[in-house]
Amino acid sequence: MRALLVLPLVLALAACDGAPTASFADAAIVLPDDPNELPAGPYRAVVEANCTACHSPSTMLQQPRVSREKWESIVGKMRKLYKAPVDDEAARQVVDYMVAIQSDVSRETPQ
Ligand code: HEC
Repeated sequence: MRALLVLPLVLALAACDGAPTASFADAAIVLPDDPNELPAGPYRAVVEANCTACHSPSTMLQQPRVSREKWESIVGKMRKLYKAPVDDEAARQVVDYMVAIQSDVSRETPQ
């Protein structure tokens, strides 16, 4: 009776004769274009000081071109919703900067 119970185990062990093999292939990944340098513009230093702690500049730079009012609302959202410690003056300067760099035609991309 005991031999009958052991037999399937022996057969199962015999089946895994060779050592398990794993093979790895080299892989290449292409990262998306991630603009991280804030271009020159008015109050660039203020933007760097107030807007790059929680996300990289690419979060701002990859936004579609939007109006001044929309930038005011985005900065307002950073302050109210995400508690970004940005004072009123810096908020105005950040908006000026974003509007200025977005109206630079050399950076304009077709929509
Ligand atoms: C306290 C953290 C914090 C700071 C400081 C901050 N943000 Fe954000 N921001 C976030 C979070 C969280 C999101 C949403 C998630 C994400 O996209 O990473 C976000 C998203 C954004 C987006 C994407 C669009 C959107 O509306 O969600 C833009 C544009 C942006 N932030 C601009 C700014 C600007 C300009 C400043 C400087 C005034 C700033 N952020 C400072 C936390 C912050």
